[in-house]
Amino acid sequence: MKKIWLIGAVALCGVVTYKALAPARELSPSSHSFFPNAQSSVPAVHALDDGLALTPPMGWYPWNIFGEEPQNEKLIREIVDALVSSGLKDAGYAFVGPDEGICFYRQADGRLTTNLERYPSGLRGLGDYIHKTGLKYALYTDAGTRTCSTAMPGTKDHEFEDMRQFAEWRADYIKIDWCNTEGQDIVKTYTTLHEAQHAAGRPVVHSLCSWGEGYPWRWAAAVGHLWRTTADICGPGQADWARAMRMAWANEELAAFAGPGHWNDPDMMIVGMPGMSETQDRSFFSLWCMMAAPLIAGNDLRSMSEATIKTLTNAEAIGINQDPLGIQGKIVWGDGTISLWAGKPLFDGSQAVLVFNQGRHPAQKRVAWSEIGVDATAACYVRNVWTHETSGPLIGGVTVSVAPDDVAMFRVSTKNDFPLPPIIVADSYLVSLRTADKAPQKLAGAITITNKGSAELPLWKVGEGLPAWLSVTVKKNGKSQAFINAISTAGLKKGLYHAVVRADNTEPVSGKSMSALYYDVDLEVTRDVSGESR
Ligand code: GLA
Repeated sequence: MKKIWLIGAVALCGVVTYKALAPARELSPSSHSFFPNAQSSVPAVHALDDGLALTPPMGWYPWNIFGEEPQNEKLIREIVDALVSSGLKDAGYAFVGPDEGICFYRQADGRLTTNLERYPSGLRGLGDYIHKTGLKYALYTDAGTRTCSTAMPGTKDHEFEDMRQFAEWRADYIKIDWCNTEGQDIVKTYTTLHEAQHAAGRPVVHSLCSWGEGYPWRWAAAVGHLWRTTADICGPGQADWARAMRMAWANEELAAFAGPGHWNDPDMMIVGMPGMSETQDRSFFSLWCMMAAPLIAGNDLRSMSEATIKTLTNAEAIGINQDPLGIQGKIVWGDGTISLWAGKPLFDGSQAVLVFNQGRHPAQKRVAWSEIGVDATAACYVRNVWTHETSGPLIGGVTVSVAPDDVAMFRVSTKNDFPLPPIIVADSYLVSLRTADKAPQKLAGAITITNKGSAELPLWKVGEGLPAWLSVTVKKNGKSQAFINAISTAGLKKGLYHAVVRADNTEPVSGKSMSALYYDVDLEVTRDVSGESR
């Protein structure tokens, strides 16, 4: 389904709650619904409608390393800059923002307001900074009366106006915690929050955070895109390897519940945190990739070692995580020390395989093709995703040696070719144009979308229903495509105009839908313009 989403759905969504609220500064004078089916029932996997998170979300959240206290706008901006300069953005990490960063409070009139002492540009200003960098904006709240630290208000009884406020701040991802929810029905609460996001009108990745409480894997695909399956992976500042492994094992059991747009989330990553060795970092990252877990880094990106960067940006491992089929791998054999993870066919017909050694001694493991869903008689190539070496053709299986705490992670294929799936990187997700002329003008602003995977993608298809002042054309240049946003100001009244553009694409090898691409277009018209609007 191709759509264009236009901000400002107060009347059309029929959400009475919003009528009492003053329109936000950035809203277009001409408001439209951008959820055409806002009243319809919730589909079983709603991401298949909004097209969001069809591969596991990738990004960074502050909680694991910082907790709430050191957070402020300066820190988040430094992290945003580090995401870019370290190469993490180019590797596919996109969602970034404060977790529980003491970033807003509730005013006497009930509205959420930025804590300007910590975030002087306002939460909208921070969002614009993130979008201009070609990243996506992640915010955090709680389903109860207060957040977990109690430093921020929760959404209870304010669901609709709070989700509206998050949309005005232009959040693309909202993590919603489950603290201070005594007496609340978990399914009803998260369903209301989903409906509130829908009514607020901005497509948003909904990350449920009940730590497995209420068995969200049984029902949350209808109302969210990912759900925490386990308790917190560590306390702020210090990784806990043994605890993380318990999380991985608990999450592994839920493999059947994950798929495109609905993921099991065993919590943010601890790669690169104090308490982790280089080997443990590699193994942790491999497990998260194999489990199709969200790859949300939790370390301090401003002071990473080269080894940490290499681990977090390993395109071959990320390719397994971001595979368009979206299958969560599982343990197919284990003896308490060595585990063999498989059951993860990839888009090109290859199989992802992981051998993990939790023992104290180096070990060898023979992996038979028959154990990993490959024809026992097939001659296969084996691509090691950490050494970047290919061996084969091999018949029947492969024997791997694995050091303590370490992994062997590889792809097995009948072809000596291991393509990477699409990894989408944008130079910006925000086009801002301003006009001061009273004669009609034509303006244009472009953004560039690049696939860091192996294939040239088909042309992105822009949704229908653009506002009269905007038209979008897409031009292809190899693996990059330019979205040219042409604006015609004829007949526009003074005011602020805003559209969210959606574009869709298909992964050419598997034919699977890719995550929909959304970006914002802002137009400021500083005086009434003559002429007929087209
Ligand atoms: C909970 C969540 C964490 C983090 C903190 C913030 O514990 O599980 O991921 O968001 O709250 O207080």
